[in-house]
Amino acid sequence: MDPFPTSTQLPVSAVLSESLSVVSLDESDLETMGRIEQVAHLYPWSERVFMDCIRSGYYLDGAMQADRLLGFAVIMPILNEWHVLNLCVDPVVHRRGVGRFLMDFVLDQAAKSDVASLWLEVRVGNTAARQLYDTLGFEQVGQRKGYYPDKQGREDALVLMRSLES
Ligand SMILES: CC(C)(COP(=O)(O)OP(=O)(O)OC[C@H]1O[C@@H](n2cnc3c(N)ncnc32)[C@H](O)[C@@H]1OP(=O)(O)O)[C@@H](O)C(=O)NCCC(=O)NCCS
Repeated sequence: MDPFPTSTQLPVSAVLSESLSVVSLDESDLETMGRIEQVAHLYPWSERVFMDCIRSGYYLDGAMQADRLLGFAVIMPILNEWHVLNLCVDPVVHRRGVGRFLMDFVLDQAAKSDVASLWLEVRVGNTAARQLYDTLGFEQVGQRKGYYPDKQGREDALVLMRSLES
């Protein structure tokens, strides 16, 4: 059985962002989020972690094409700073604008909420994510040695920040 029937039925078009909408995800989306997470991340979160995020009141924004979840962002708000804990797109639709669409939405919501800055960590070797964040105006403000597990041992994290203050 195809474990990703909704993704594989997607029409093949270059950029998806014009057909996307954003919804708040909840416990009913845990299984789908978990499935995307499993195939997109080397060290995926468990459904339990997503559950904890929902119960903690973090923002879970899902990018939908019709009723299909294609990716999501998890944001932990701390006063006027928002921390992007996870950004994940179904590999079936990588490089078709879903990640940028989600981050544009998060930045827009943050600006409307008078948030001062967005923060996140990214693997040094995660070229795709680093490139995306770079184009969105994130800047490196730190580096955490050996922050992530990887196949060779540990990998550093870059700490990135995007100011929303003029
Ligand atoms: C990082 C990730 C969210 C990007 O999502 P995406 O929907 O594929 O990205 P988009 O199509 O919106 O691309 C936006 C920009 O990101 C950069 N980018 C995306 N994929 C890239 C790749 N494979 N190589 C280089 N740059 C890439 C480009 O700048 C791209 O803009 P462009 O296509 O106009 O050149 C996605 O690759 C993913 O889910 N990766 C696994 C999970 C992960 O690493 N999350 C980030 C944790 S910090």
